[in-house]
Amino acid sequence: MTRILVLNGPNLGRLGTREPDIYGSQTLLDIEASLVAAAPAGVELDFRQTDDEATLIGWLHEAADSQSPVILNPAAFTHYSYALRDACQIVTSAGIALIEVHLSNPHARESFRHTSVVTGAALGVIAGFGDQSYHLALSHILTLLERH
Ligand code: DQA
Repeated sequence: MTRILVLNGPNLGRLGTREPDIYGSQTLLDIEASLVAAAPAGVELDFRQTDDEATLIGWLHEAADSQSPVILNPAAFTHYSYALRDACQIVTSAGIALIEVHLSNPHARESFRHTSVVTGAALGVIAGFGDQSYHLALSHILTLLERH
């Protein structure tokens, strides 16, 4: 059984009612359900959300220790958390795929969202496609696992 961690940062637990014009009307549980449905047999998705930076960093350490690929929506931490970036670097330096995702396209929004301190420590970033950003990331991780 391969485990993929799907980690979500602050305020993403409010999806559904949070700025639906930007983030859509799906809840995080809806996104989890659609992603779990898309995962093939033998692949377990461990889907989590926290508003707490230390918890998110601990989960990234766990990914490094358990060699679990990561789909990460760092939410607002994207734009300023060097501690989170360093934790992402620990994962990628261990040779584990970590893909940064965003529901919205931060580059089309306020200027403070144009900077990601995380991207440089990620394998890649997928942004602007709503829940499909998660699906595209999952698809790529599955491709990597097949090639392995
Ligand atoms: C987000 C974009 C961030 O700028 C914002 O702080 C979020 C969500 C997204 O998924 O579009 O909370 O990561």
